Amino acid sequence: MAQLGLLERAALGIDLATGTIEFAGPWEAVPRDAMAPGCPVIDASGCVVLPGFVDSHTHLVYGGCRADEFHRRCRGESYQQIAEAGGGILSSVKATRAASGEELEAAARQRLHCFYSAGTTTVEIKSGYGLEQGTEIRMLEAISRLRETEPAIICATYMGAHAFPPGADRTAYTEEVAAALSRIDEDGLADFYDIFVDPLAFGQAEAEKIIAAGRRTGMGLKLHGDEFGDDGTAAWGAALGAVSIDHLGGISDAGIEALAHSNSIATLLPGTMFFTRHGSYAPARRMIDAGCAVALATDHNPGSSMLYSLPFVMTLAALNMGMSPEECITAATINGAHALQLGSITGSLEPGKRADVVIAAVPDYRELAYHVGRDLIRDVFIRGRAVKRKGLPAV
Ligand code: NIG
Ligand code: FE
Repeated sequence: MAQLGLLERAALGIDLATGTIEFAGPWEAVPRDAMAPGCPVIDASGCVVLPGFVDSHTHLVYGGCRADEFHRRCRGESYQQIAEAGGGILSSVKATRAASGEELEAAARQRLHCFYSAGTTTVEIKSGYGLEQGTEIRMLEAISRLRETEPAIICATYMGAHAFPPGADRTAYTEEVAAALSRIDEDGLADFYDIFVDPLAFGQAEAEKIIAAGRRTGMGLKLHGDEFGDDGTAAWGAALGAVSIDHLGGISDAGIEALAHSNSIATLLPGTMFFTRHGSYAPARRMIDAGCAVALATDHNPGSSMLYSLPFVMTLAALNMGMSPEECITAATINGAHALQLGSITGSLEPGKRADVVIAAVPDYRELAYHVGRDLIRDVFIRGRAVKRKGLPAV
């Protein structure tokens, strides 16, 4: 079982000059000289103070809105039928190609502020709704501008391999994605690259061509894999040293075993099953018992997971995947940070780490996943600066 290092009557000291945690421990042990006269004190009595949440898998940059598809699905059309009728990923591709970089950035910034409000302080954002390099780069540049202007840690992932563009020659498009990697890396536009490995997307042989090029860059590999069935992606991806393998609704016992003995993080995205009413929830219980390091993320995207809140993802994980409150919190904080190779700078409340902190208006951390549709996140601090205070935006 995950250990939270729970403390009651605790204090957290923040150095505002560096935005890092100076002290975290029992109230009685606060160093005498810790507080300069007049330094601000925030009373969190009756609340739970925890690390800012880390959402390690999102598609936050895109054009358009697919509310129509959502309601068509609610009335019985399947995701597949809608995709075949020109909807699905391709409808977002059309809208994203038509949007300017500024429009993409502004819409993503608004969504990011909703994430802050739900307690998220670190976000990974993927490209992948361009499927031609000009738009992919425009998406990555929008992510870069967010990174430069927002207080959150923002990681960028190049996902040209999200789908094949309509009418594309598979070999030519795979080569185009592989060829784009070195330039993206040189321009500092992405920290990771991601490939959707699926019978309806990229096969392993195609993915290997992209990975061969990716290995010549400094970017870490992420994979969407074993989403609807066992394609062997978990074991294959773990052997390739993927930083994380995400989805895993169809993972096999052999896949679980391989992941448990690897350094890859298993990132589970229960929002997609909830939102599409399709697919199986990943066997988180068996995975954790086998020794897999599990992270939770929203997979926010306009088609299959229009989710903004990691506490809500925790509710889904507890209800549908047998995860304990401790495991949910671990998965949405420190394990998410490891899925972004940021475990040494955020994801837990320890001296020297960034002061990314959430105050939740509940007396017990087990209530976090228990209340649904009620905003429990009272305050959110990123590097010690409030982005939400007393339930209201502070940015
Ligand atoms: O590929 N997780 C990533 N993308 C989803 C689809 C997103 C969409 O419908 O736009 C997927 O299944
Ligand atoms: Fe995704």
